[in-house]
This record gives sequence, C-alpha cells and structure tokens, in this order.
Amino acid sequence: MKINYKIENENFKVTFCPDKQKLSIKNKKNSYMQISKDLKKLNHDNKILLVIDKNINNKIIRYIINDLKLSFPDLKILYVLGSKKNKNLKTFFKITDRLFKEKFSKNSVLISCGGGVIGDVSGLAASLYLRGLNYYHIPTTMTAIIDSCIGGKNGINFKNIINSIGTYYHPTNVYISKTIIHHLPNREYISGIPEIIKCGLIDKSDLLNYIKIKNKIIQRDFSFISKIIKKTLVSKIKFFKNDVKEKNNRLMLNFGHTFAHAIESSLDNNLSNKAEILRHGEAVGLGLLCEIYYKNGKNKIFHQIKNLLDLYSLPTNLKFIKMNKSLLKKEIFKYIFLDKKKIGKFPRYIGLKNIGRPKILELSNNTKIKNTILNVLFS
Ligand SMILES: NC(=O)c1ccc[n+]([C@@H]2O[C@H](COP(=O)([O-])OP(=O)(O)OC[C@H]3O[C@@H](n4cnc5c(N)ncnc54)[C@H](O)[C@@H]3O)[C@@H](O)[C@H]2O)c1
Repeated sequence: MKINYKIENENFKVTFCPDKQKLSIKNKKNSYMQISKDLKKLNHDNKILLVIDKNINNKIIRYIINDLKLSFPDLKILYVLGSKKNKNLKTFFKITDRLFKEKFSKNSVLISCGGGVIGDVSGLAASLYLRGLNYYHIPTTMTAIIDSCIGGKNGINFKNIINSIGTYYHPTNVYISKTIIHHLPNREYISGIPEIIKCGLIDKSDLLNYIKIKNKIIQRDFSFISKIIKKTLVSKIKFFKNDVKEKNNRLMLNFGHTFAHAIESSLDNNLSNKAEILRHGEAVGLGLLCEIYYKNGKNKIFHQIKNLLDLYSLPTNLKFIKMNKSLLKKEIFKYIFLDKKKIGKFPRYIGLKNIGRPKILELSNNTKIKNTILNVLFS
C-alpha cells in the first residue's frame, strides 16, 4: 500500500485509499470541538465508543465526554488503564466485548484517548472488529503525541514479547491538544523526549538543536512544542510513507529499540509486582546509547545524546534498578535475541555512521553485545 502525505499549514492531512486522514495541531482551548464537527461530517450509524485512559486528568476526561455528548448523547464510554502491563489480550477483549455488546457495525466509530498503550490496543481492536471500523485517536502522552499516533502500527505484548501480535491500521483523524500537554504529569511529558532525539539522529533535521532549548520545553511553551511535534511527525512520515510494513526504510525508526525492548522486557517480566519501572521512552533513551556504543563506542554522538538525556534527568544507565544485576544483564542479553525484527541468525539493530545516516545492521558479536550492556548500562 502506498500512502501519500500532505502537510498544509497547521493541518497535517494524510490521504490514503479510500479514506482521508487529517492531523490538526490545535492552538485553541476547545480543541476537542473539532472531533464532534468531524464526526458530524462522517457517514456513520451514530454508534460511538470512547475508550479512555482512567489516568488522564479528570477535568480533561469530563471535558472530552461532555463535548462529545452534546452532539452525540448516546456516546458509550469505556474506561481502561494504560501502562505496559495492560497492553494485553485482556484489554483488547474488554474493548471488542463492548463493541459486540453494543452491536457496533462497520459503520460505527471507535475513539481512543490515551497514551501509546491505549492507542496501540484500541487500534488493534479497531482493525480487527468486523475487519475494521471508523477509528479516531486522541494521543495523551508525549510518546503518543510525537510518535505512536501516526504510522498505523497497533498491537499487544504476548508471550513476554513486545508487540508480538499486531496489525497496521491508521486512525482516520488524530487530535493533538494543548490542554492535554499542559496537564500531563512531568514523567509522561519528558519521557517522550528520547523518541524526538531518535528522529533528530536518523534524519538530518534541526530537532537536536530544538531539544537543547530546555526552558521552553520545561515551560511547555506550546508554540515551541508544536514545532517540535510537527517536525518529529514529519520526520517519522518520511521514513514510513513508502514502507508501511517495515521492509527497509521504516526499520530506521527502530533506532535504539532492539536494546530498549530487551531492557523493558527484562524489567517488566522479572519484577514480581509487575510495576512499570521504565516508561517506553526512557528505555529508548538507553537503547540509543547502547546502539551507538555497539557500533562506535563512546564517540562524540554518544556523549552528545547522554548530555541531552542528563539535561532532562532521563536515565542513562540501569545502576539504580533494584534487581539482581547479573540476572538483569543475562535477561537483557536473552531478550535481544527474541527481538521481532530478527529475520536471520542475528538480531538486527540500527547503526549510526553520522547524524542522518542510519543503517540496518546485525548484532553478530556476542562479546560486543555483553560489553555494551556492561559498559553502557552498568558502568
Ligand atoms: N505504534 C507505534 O508506532 C508506537 C510508537 C511508540 C511507542 N509505542 C508504544 O507505546 C507504549 C508506550 O507509550 P506511553 O509511554 O504513552 O505508555 P502508556 O500509554 O502506558 O502511558 C504511560 C502512563 O501514563 C498514563 N497516562 C496516559 N495519558 C495520561 C495523561 N494525559 N495524564 C496522566 N497520565 C496519563 C497511562 O495510564 C500510563 O500509566 C509502548 O507500549 C510502546 O510499544 C507504539
């Protein structure tokens, strides 16, 4: 499938057969009003399910619901919980059960409102229920806003492997809101930064310079942040628009992710209380350092990225984790070999020769992998 993207003013308009996809970065207080407007124009059967993350600020939840209910009083609401431990079949079935219970048709609408987890699981449900119904998305964490909201990758974690079951299905509209960004807890806001850094590294853009301007980011200066959001999304589009199914160019967006997913799996699957120690974005920051180190050692780019992570107090090692360290090292090594990008004998990763020059490579040297884990994550 070939997807064409167009970016017009503040609107990011995506067209693909046969639907149109539009991303609007709204500067107005009432940004959700646009959803009702768009829904009124859409040919649907008035059945709308809003899947919403319970952790979102109550005022925002009420605001979104009240606004939608004004135009669609019969709106159905399903409260779910984000976090990686809920990215599973149980949450998926919770959504599809509700669609069946309310007798939704292919002409009905699913709106998801949440971070990367709720977006990925709802997208999967939207793609599989009756082989696809109308789907809108409101991303509510920085990771979701600058990354997961576009590109159409959906999924759940299964058999302890991240995103091992999934589909490609694009939301028709994505709504990014200033109010949500303004109210985000600091961790859900800052943990989006490593994915922005990733785009700044694989693409020759000025994103890395933007990330250095800490005061504007910390103050949540929306006109500044919306530039970063747009640049990051534009960069992501460049990599996947002609390669949705990730055969070559899109793979570059996985920079840092072979190590990041192994770190996340090792922690999430070994902690007895299933507490989420690292957000996905935080693990990506560590993964970037590991993949740069594996190819080039502690070179200039390594230090540049470590300094940026330090600037936002993002983790740059795993020394603070309260888990048996030798077990953790072994687990990370094990999970690297379970990475779903692996197609041959060796796991794949993205090596960076220079900024803007990423390359798909293989982790073919076990000693080097072990040294990377040791020298980056535990020294
Ligand atoms: N599909 C893609 O292209 C893509 C890209 C990047 C990441 N992802 C996936 O995204 C997930 C990580 O995303 P995430 O970090 O957003 O995780 P998440 O959705 O679990 O959100 C992190 C935490 O923030 C809470 N939360 C969400 N919105 C909130 C809000 N507005 N206010 C307060 N709390 C809020 C959640 O309940 C959760 O506890 C991973 O599963 C990753 O695989 C997917």
